[in-house]
Order: sequence, then C-alpha cells, then structure tokens
Amino acid sequence: MDRTIDEYLLDLVGSRADAPAETDPFLPLALKYGDPTTLLIVDDDLINRAVLGNLFRDEYTIQEASDGSAALDLIRADPGRFCAVLLDYRMEPMDGLALLERLDAKGLPRRIPVFLISAEASPEVMRRAYELGVMDVIEKPVVPFVVTRRVRSVIELFAARRRLSSVVMEQQAELVRRAGEILELNRGMIETLAAAIEFRDSESGGHVRRIHDITRAFLTQTEMGDGLSDEEVTSIALASIMHDVGKIGIPDAILGKPGRLTDEEFQIMKSHTVIGAEMLENIPQMHKNRAFDFAVDIARHHHERWDGRGYPDGLIGDEQTRWAQVVSIADVYDALRCKRVYKSAIPREEACRMIDEGACGTFGPRLLDAFHQIEPQLSTFYEQNSLTAADTPTDW
Ligand SMILES: [Fe+2]
Ligand SMILES: [Fe+2]
Repeated sequence: MDRTIDEYLLDLVGSRADAPAETDPFLPLALKYGDPTTLLIVDDDLINRAVLGNLFRDEYTIQEASDGSAALDLIRADPGRFCAVLLDYRMEPMDGLALLERLDAKGLPRRIPVFLISAEASPEVMRRAYELGVMDVIEKPVVPFVVTRRVRSVIELFAARRRLSSVVMEQQAELVRRAGEILELNRGMIETLAAAIEFRDSESGGHVRRIHDITRAFLTQTEMGDGLSDEEVTSIALASIMHDVGKIGIPDAILGKPGRLTDEEFQIMKSHTVIGAEMLENIPQMHKNRAFDFAVDIARHHHERWDGRGYPDGLIGDEQTRWAQVVSIADVYDALRCKRVYKSAIPREEACRMIDEGACGTFGPRLLDAFHQIEPQLSTFYEQNSLTAADTPTDW
C-alpha cells in the first residue's frame, strides 16, 4: 500500500533531527571558511618535522607539535582547522598510538585524516593503528614523492566528501522547506474550508480557531493529553478544526433558521456528525493519515455526552475518546462565552456553572477537573477579545 504524501512529508521533516549525526560536524566551518589547509606534523625529532614540513610547505600551512599531548591540545582547540595529521609513532611521553586512542574516542580520525609514520611498524602496531582509524601507515625513511602523493590524495578525498555532503544537506534542507510549505498549505485549506462552513452557519467568527487552541491547551496542560506524543497533539488540534465539517450537508433553511428547530429539523441538524465523519472517510488519500483518523472520530462524536444522552451513537463515559470529549467541552464553552443575537455572551461564572450542572449535557469528572484547571486561562482570552457573533441555533 502506498504511503500518503503527508506520512512521507512528516517522516521527512522528522528525519531532520537525525541528519546532523550523519554529516561531518566540521562541514558548517568548511562551508563558511573553505576547506581546512593546515597540516599538523607531530614528531619529537626537529629534523624529521623539518623534512616533512618542507615536502608540504608549498601546498599547506604547516603546524608542528613535538609530542602527543601538545598535538592533542592543538587539535582539541580547533579541530576544524586541520586538513590532515602526520603522526610519528615513537614519541615520549605520549606516543602516536596513545594520541590516536584519544582522538578515536572523540571520533576525530573519521573527520581528519591521520597518517602514522614509523620506522618500525610491526604488524601488531599497524593493526592497532588501522583499528584506531588511521588512513595510512607510512614507513620511514619517507620517500618524498610517495608520501606527498598519498597524503594529498586523501586530503582531496576528504574535501570531496565534504562537498558531496554539503550538496546532500542543501537538497535535504530544500525538501524539508517544501514539505513545510505543503503542510502549511494543507492546514490553510482545512482552515479555509472550516471558515466557509462557519460563515454559512453564522457561527461566531474565529470559532474553529479557538476550538483548535482550546483543544491544544487541554492536551498540553492537563492530564487529558497524557500519553499522547507531540505529533498526536498537533494532529488532534488540527482535526478539531473540522469538527463541524458535516454542516455543509445541512440545508440552509435549517442551518440558518433564526428560531428554535422543530424535532424533525433537529434530527436533521444532528446528522451533521455522521455526514462529517463520512465525508472525511471518503477522502481515500488521507486514510492512512493519523490526523484524519482523529478527524473522523471528532466529527462523529463531538456531541456525545458522558451519560450516554448525546448523539449520534449514545456513547457512555470513556466510550467517547478523550480527544472527542475535549472538543465537546471546548465547543460548548466557546458557544456560551460568545455573544449571539438572541443572547449576550454568558459571564464566566455562569458558563462554568452551566457546564458543571450539565445544562449543556453532562461531562465526565476527569474532563471537568481538567476544564477547571485551564478555564482561568481560557477566560482571560475571551475577556481580552470582546467576542461578538451572529445569531445561530446551537445544536447541543
Ligand atoms: Fe457540531
Ligand atoms: Fe462547533
């Protein structure tokens, strides 16, 4: 079965976090300052350092260290500066292998090519050196043509690898940017659709946006969100935007009726839950998308109530999912706190009392606890934004 575009994009965006582990940590420095050009020569013998230095002086900046610990200090201070390290095996007090062990512990031989130079490289020393990540073991006395060629090729290879990974990084960043744009576009389209339904329904402006924000607040700040991942919370909040999408299938005469609905009209109005869930289920491309699973559930069950007297399925207690419960109470609270033509905005205390007493249907004890926990914060929002709205028959 093909994966949905959104799954692919979410994976892609998620993979951003893994990317740095795969790429050279010195790459940003190399991109900013160019490839490193300093060659570090580590040897306790002044003559040996001079001989090696003269071989490379025309091509690279030469830095010298006379023992392992001095070299270690230089590399630690600025590891991105060195294009390669030429390392003598026999030195006091820290020999070449001991220095290699310290560098290997930091993963540095994978970033900076290291060459071990030795007059007495036994198979055992060579094996250990390769285990610790040296690029090559060069025997003394060095043959100038051979040593320059081997070192230069490896430095060029590392630079080419860095350039390749920079191209990959740029392409990956571009893909992530495009994925983000598509996700934003999706979200924009969902919000526009929901706003169009709101407009037709004459609901208060910004209702779906507030439902989104209240849902998110419940799931991030109260135990109603326990066990949900950040991605699931984002998906549920996005899904809550579509809770009334089924109203698109309700006739204007009922949706826009100024007075009370007859029983028959109310039955039709109630069907927006089933219509909405069916509409969402009929988007085949979205079937495997987690946000749409939540959306189908929320569209169908946002009018269920704790005592089983809600609709359309008469679910009892926690048969209604936690997220559908959250959207139910968010929907009711928003309707109460907003002004309608036939009623003014209901003051905070009265809205809370009505919810506690079940005037708009009963809610579960855990949901009510969570509601009271965040209600002061929600209330501030309503008081700061004096909300007005057109008349609409509420459907709860
Ligand atoms: Fe509804
Ligand atoms: Fe609503």
